[in-house]
Amino acid sequence: MNKKIILTGDRPTGKLHLGHYVGSLKRRVELQNAGIYDRIFIEIADSQAITDNAYDLEKVRQNVLEVALDYLACGIDPDKCIIFVQSQIPELCELTFYYLNLVTLSRLQRNPTIKEEIKLRGFQSSIPVGFLTYPVSQAADITAFDANIIPVGEDQLPMIEQTREIVRSFNKLYGNILIEPKELLPDNSSCSRLPGIDGKAKMSKSLGNCIYLSDEPEIIYKKVMSMYTDPSHLKVEDPGKIEGNTVFTYLDAFCKESHFKKYLPEYNNLEELKKHYQRGGLGDVKIKKFLNAILQEELEPIRTRRKEFEKHIPEVYNILMNGSKKARSFASKKIEEVKSTMKIDYFNDFNLINNQVEKYSDYTEKSLSEKIDNN
Ligand code: TRP
Repeated sequence: MNKKIILTGDRPTGKLHLGHYVGSLKRRVELQNAGIYDRIFIEIADSQAITDNAYDLEKVRQNVLEVALDYLACGIDPDKCIIFVQSQIPELCELTFYYLNLVTLSRLQRNPTIKEEIKLRGFQSSIPVGFLTYPVSQAADITAFDANIIPVGEDQLPMIEQTREIVRSFNKLYGNILIEPKELLPDNSSCSRLPGIDGKAKMSKSLGNCIYLSDEPEIIYKKVMSMYTDPSHLKVEDPGKIEGNTVFTYLDAFCKESHFKKYLPEYNNLEELKKHYQRGGLGDVKIKKFLNAILQEELEPIRTRRKEFEKHIPEVYNILMNGSKKARSFASKKIEEVKSTMKIDYFNDFNLINNQVEKYSDYTEKSLSEKIDNN
């Protein structure tokens, strides 16, 4: 039977936010507690973060800990998951270097996520090569651990597709030893990509439109109150739009029927609330206060747990070190298998050595007899 191996991760470029939470962290905790997976790897992808932060390594260095704290705060359990730091597994660089030969430049340039990121980072006129090739290193992250289930948000689909292509090429060329991964998307589509509080497509630190998991309650309240809704919904009586209205997108992601009983008993469910908003007569402040109550309830236990771990920083680093050691032991077995399949394991391959011995002994015998003939 095939093993069920999960791998996923985040770049340590900032604290984690609600987008990370609904898109993946919440799911990871559910997966971890499901108890049906053989192994779960969670990677702090610092090497990948360096591909667009090569001139600001301190940022990456600081955020390795922030991300670890956010993981633990959300309930990721280091006894059930292997939390590791990418740069501490040199085998991943080794794998990447071989995979780079299986991918073309134009294929990398066609990657829609990369294209978008190039625009966002202003890399149009000069793209760092390392940055352009990070999808290949992500293929190494996944295949080094034989991971076949990759819980990610929509924006990572091109990376999984790229990984599958590399796996197929490798298996066809060298031998069938790599596992084709499959993505596991959030089941609620509004969770796949939570917009920023300004309504922009994505929550992103650089856009300053995030609600962080570590935000204090007053900050959360302020951010919710400033959220983008429907700009033409000026008066309470005006009919309002649901599509593109960030508050409703967040409600789609977070709201459960039980929240109505608790915080907004005049309505039975989200459908009713939406209908009223569309008809007119429902103000933005009311829906924002409702959303605030829901988010406060969700984030309070996370913040409390984070504060507990903040008192034990050396232990948190210890968790990362032990996870990295464990992860490395899996990756180093895999790289051995890869190298022997590619036949670049010259010193352990007795067939190779014997064949070379034979080749040269043939040659010496032949040339010797030729010499004798000539005389
Ligand atoms: N690219 C992912 C992100 O930006 C992070 C990541 C690195 C990842 N390696 C991975 C995700 C492997 C899934 C599997 O969020």
